[in-house]
Amino acid sequence: MFPSKVSRFLVLTSVALLFIVSYTTLYLYHSVPPSYPTADSQVVPIQDAAPISEEPQVDYVATVAETTHEILTPDLANPTSSPIPTVPDEGSSQEQSDKELPTQELPVQEPSFQEPPAEESSVQEPPIQQPPAQQPPPPAYLDTGNDANAGASSQEELLPLPDPEVCPDDLKFLVRASIDLELTERVRYTRRYIRPDFSGAVNRDEVANITEPLIQGEVEVDLYDCGDVVIPSSAPIKLHVPNPHPDSTFEHLIFGIATDYDRLNDSISSFSHWISGTGAKIVAVVTDAKGKSSGQMGELQHNFDIAGINATLVKPINESFTTSQNHFSVLINMFDFSSPETKWYGLLDDDTFFPGSLKPLSDSLAALDHSVDAYVGALSEDFSAVRNFGFMAFGGAGAFLSAPLARKLATQALNCINGAIGHEGDTILRDCVYTNSKAKLTILPDLHQQDFRNDMSGWFEAGVRPLNLHHWKSWYKEPVEKMAKAAKFCGDCFLQRWRFGTDTVFSNGFSIATYRDGVESVNLQLMEGTFDKAESRDYDFSVGPLRDAYDADQKKSYKLREAEFAENGDLRQLYVRVGNSSVGELDQVVELIWQNH
Ligand SMILES: *[C@@H]1O[C@H](CO)[C@@H](O)[C@H](O)[C@H]1NC(C)=O
Ligand SMILES: *[C@@H]1O[C@H](CO)[C@@H](O)[C@H](O)[C@H]1NC(C)=O
Ligand SMILES: *[C@@H]1O[C@H](CO)[C@@H](O)[C@H](O)[C@H]1NC(C)=O
Ligand SMILES: *[C@@H]1O[C@H](CO)[C@@H](O)[C@H](O)[C@H]1NC(C)=O
Ligand SMILES: *[C@@H]1O[C@H](CO)[C@@H](O)[C@H](O)[C@H]1NC(C)=O
Repeated sequence: MFPSKVSRFLVLTSVALLFIVSYTTLYLYHSVPPSYPTADSQVVPIQDAAPISEEPQVDYVATVAETTHEILTPDLANPTSSPIPTVPDEGSSQEQSDKELPTQELPVQEPSFQEPPAEESSVQEPPIQQPPAQQPPPPAYLDTGNDANAGASSQEELLPLPDPEVCPDDLKFLVRASIDLELTERVRYTRRYIRPDFSGAVNRDEVANITEPLIQGEVEVDLYDCGDVVIPSSAPIKLHVPNPHPDSTFEHLIFGIATDYDRLNDSISSFSHWISGTGAKIVAVVTDAKGKSSGQMGELQHNFDIAGINATLVKPINESFTTSQNHFSVLINMFDFSSPETKWYGLLDDDTFFPGSLKPLSDSLAALDHSVDAYVGALSEDFSAVRNFGFMAFGGAGAFLSAPLARKLATQALNCINGAIGHEGDTILRDCVYTNSKAKLTILPDLHQQDFRNDMSGWFEAGVRPLNLHHWKSWYKEPVEKMAKAAKFCGDCFLQRWRFGTDTVFSNGFSIATYRDGVESVNLQLMEGTFDKAESRDYDFSVGPLRDAYDADQKKSYKLREAEFAENGDLRQLYVRVGNSSVGELDQVVELIWQNH
């Protein structure tokens, strides 16, 4: 990406370097202490100055601390749940399973979107550079935050950021997003409007044919000089989509997780996507609560509160429990905090993610009888994991217990932990179910453990309709919160597919793919085996038969990298194809604007 930027900023950079060198020299000769900051360290004050909407933490910490203390204390003192250690299922399964499965290191491929900002922050204005007062503008520095690359290119750090405020309104989103996405200075840009035709009668699994091409009217946009770019207008495309999920509440669902303080805090944004304001509850065992002050616990509780999540934070029932044991023992806490209307207890991993709404999960569970013992979940898609761990509800897909079974196991949980043979939370749960009830695993096919590594595009482009996602920030990396905004807009249309023209397939919320040999050459009924070990046959029983993965010259993909709701309710999605920087290719962006009316 850099080469295209170099020409523009070569001059600027030289001027800046000259300035810095003279400046530094000047100071050196004036006996400035050796610790005088180098030019690079100027980055720091500017980062610090970035707008951070922080709460006045000191104030609330004091008050919330007491609350937390109250919450934690009765739990530990509660004689009904005598301090029996329980075993976690695979609560932090991505850590545990990573260890146990013979798997390779996970290469980090595309760091640019690894840390999806909180929902709000995608709407926030990025730090805006000060308007340059004079010709050589005081450079606003790229917020790299990543020292690993700091020395790689001094040009990079000296680049000013593009300023959305000087762009036409309908380019502001692109320009704002370009900063985090680190797009090339100029991009090849296509904008299309979509007029959704909502209906309860849409066959969501059919790949409808749209005769016109999707990617047409591409123009080059200079993100630093966007004033007079003319975007060709074209008629909105009409697409048939399902109705959005109705607003519902889910007081009958309670979820349990066990993870450490930092991971829990980091998960609040993705939790809030699916649970905020729904009436469903989370009980979280903070596995390292012992090392946290009541002020810190209060702060964490506060972060859940302001995210609209009804969360109860608890300490491990037994300090010597492992995370895995905690992931199962949380069932005891869930039972304590459940209510008469609780029908289903879901034990989750901290990266289990429900796209859009809990409605599809709730509907699927409603087809089962919650008044009898029921143990519900999904196997791993990888048969080698099934061979290793057995026939059970794998933790990342969630293990769901009906209320009577949950009650039974909660009273037996400490015995189950003490007598456990397996070490994973989900194996302890499985054995506890089988030794204390006649319930057998009921598989919900749309729950997913997602034991896949690296390139998941074949899976996401196969027309799946997942109740949940998992492993999206470890085994593979995709910005699921941004992707799943589609599900907020039109429900099951998330990952719905359409063919456009002769060579394009659009998978809503994930990608736009164009095929060199045309769509006719692609069997859209089969999943493309893009992920690791796809040829191993271990995935055939779950997602097979698979077709071979395409080479880069046969298939071009634009991946969803940013999405936000505009104030008028329109959903804007940016699909990005990263250009090959070594040959000076520009990045390509397709912006789809789903009109809301
Ligand atoms: C806590 O767990 C450890 C390890 O499982 C066990 O040895 C110990 O007895 C437990 N303590 C209590 C109070 O149950
Ligand atoms: C779309 O076109 C393809 C090939 O022409 C055809 O096989 C398919 O049935 C069509 N899909 C629909 C939903 O009509
Ligand atoms: C918790 O997360 C928030 C938002 O992501 C962040 O601002 C804050 O620094 C985090 N707190 C801790 C203690 O990590
Ligand atoms: C959280 O759940 C509890 C128990 O059902 C309920 O009493 C409380 O009102 C809920 N809090 C919020 C903020 O919804
Ligand atoms: C970029 O182009 C170079 C030169 O053609 C090629 O060797 C390289 O494989 C390309 N990289 C990618 C990621 O396509």
